[in-house]
Amino acid sequence: MRDIISSLDFSKEDFLTIFSLADEIEKGKRLKLQEEKVVATAFFEPSTRTHLSFTTAALRLGAKTMGFSSTEGISEAKGENFADTIRMLENYSDCIIIRHKFDGAAKFASEISNKPIINAGDGKHEHPTQTLIDIYTVYKSFGSPDNLTYGILGDLKYARTVNSLLRGLTRFKPRFVYLISPEPLKARKEILSELNYPYKEINSPSEVISEIDVLYVTRIQKERFPDEMEYEKVKESYTVDENLVNQMKKDSIILHPLPRVNEIDRRIDSKPQAKYFYQASLGVPVRMSLLYKILSGEW
Ligand code: CP
Repeated sequence: MRDIISSLDFSKEDFLTIFSLADEIEKGKRLKLQEEKVVATAFFEPSTRTHLSFTTAALRLGAKTMGFSSTEGISEAKGENFADTIRMLENYSDCIIIRHKFDGAAKFASEISNKPIINAGDGKHEHPTQTLIDIYTVYKSFGSPDNLTYGILGDLKYARTVNSLLRGLTRFKPRFVYLISPEPLKARKEILSELNYPYKEINSPSEVISEIDVLYVTRIQKERFPDEMEYEKVKESYTVDENLVNQMKKDSIILHPLPRVNEIDRRIDSKPQAKYFYQASLGVPVRMSLLYKILSGEW
């Protein structure tokens, strides 16, 4: 009966448990739930990877899935409130995976539902299962997320994946984290106040790019800007291009939670450092591991 709202809901041991199980699944372990379970996917906001990889993960475990991918087909369109929608999903399912445009929506749902809630992204707040995938990709690439230099590049103000990653890394021992963003998109102070590892805020990756082991890039989150004019001012303020990647270490990696817009030049996709599609592929074994732990009652 465990809710997953923030990456801080995972201890270091939890991360390593998920990584170990995901690794076994990748190597061919057949994991099936003993009892029949129904997973609800409540996506009030668009998604490709999170929705479809959670659905695939549930099906591969032998669970059934039901849900929606926009508010157009549900009774919210007739004025039903969020709380009542969650009460219905609680009646019909064993676990609710929820994405919503409002910060705190998953937490609020967890206060209403007696069934486990998994936050699949709430506004500009958090996306904790993306962090499981992000750190698992680092773990697969380097053997450990510890003692590495990270560069987190992009919209650090509105990207929920960044908040969850920065919090998730507090469970490990990064050597150093560069927070790289245009001035208006700097990370929020309340997140920075929680970090227990060395970090520095800078405006451009050029001076530090040769030090970085993990470059984590995010899209500018246009949909979160209260004022579109503010978005227009920063919309093309950074791009990972061939010139930048040529300065990176040979064994460094580039991650991105996706979707991307224009912040990574498509010519980078064939570079050995480009791991973002591989990262997305790990969504299924990681989410299988998490759903198994929750639906089997182990967590
Ligand atoms: N990474 C991620 O959350 O992608 P989607 O928005 O496609 O789910």
